Amino acid sequence: MGERMKWTKECRLGVDHIDSQHRLLFAIANELIDFEDPMEEAPEFKFLLNHLRQYVDEHFKSEKQYMQDIQYLDFDDHIQKHHAIVEEINDLLKGIKSLNELKGNMEKLLKKWIKEHILVEDKKNLGVDKNNEEKFQSVKCLDRDPDKGWIRYLLIQ
Ligand SMILES: [Fe+2]
Repeated sequence: MGERMKWTKECRLGVDHIDSQHRLLFAIANELIDFEDPMEEAPEFKFLLNHLRQYVDEHFKSEKQYMQDIQYLDFDDHIQKHHAIVEEINDLLKGIKSLNELKGNMEKLLKKWIKEHILVEDKKNLGVDKNNEEKFQSVKCLDRDPDKGWIRYLLIQ
C-alpha cells in the first residue's frame, strides 16, 4: 500500500468551495491507495474508479466556472492542463491490463496531479495568497464586481 496523501492547511487555496473539492479528491485518492488487492474487491474498486472519473469532471467544471467568475487571464492555459489530466486518466482506464496494475498507475497519476497541479498550479494561479503582492495588485487593478469571486474575499481580508 502506498503512502496516503495528507491534507494540511498549506494545501488550501483560500477559496472555500475549491478547497473542499480538492479535499475530497485527496480522500478519493486515499481510498484508492488503501485498496490492498483491487482484484479481490473488484466491484468496489470499479465503483471507486467511476466515482473518481465523475468527480474529476465535476471538479474541473467547477474550477472552470470559478475562473470565468474571476475573469482569470490564463484561462486557456489552465483549461488545457485540465484536459491533459483527463486524457491521462482516460488513457489509463482504456489501457487496463489488470486492476492491480491500474491501481499502481492511477495512484502515481493522482499523486502527481495533486502535487504538481493542485498544490502548485491551482495554488499559485487561483489561490488567494496574501504574500503574493504582484498577484494581489493585478487582481485589484482588474476592477471586477466586488460582490463576486475572490475580489470580495481579498477586500474582506
Ligand atoms: Fe486546476
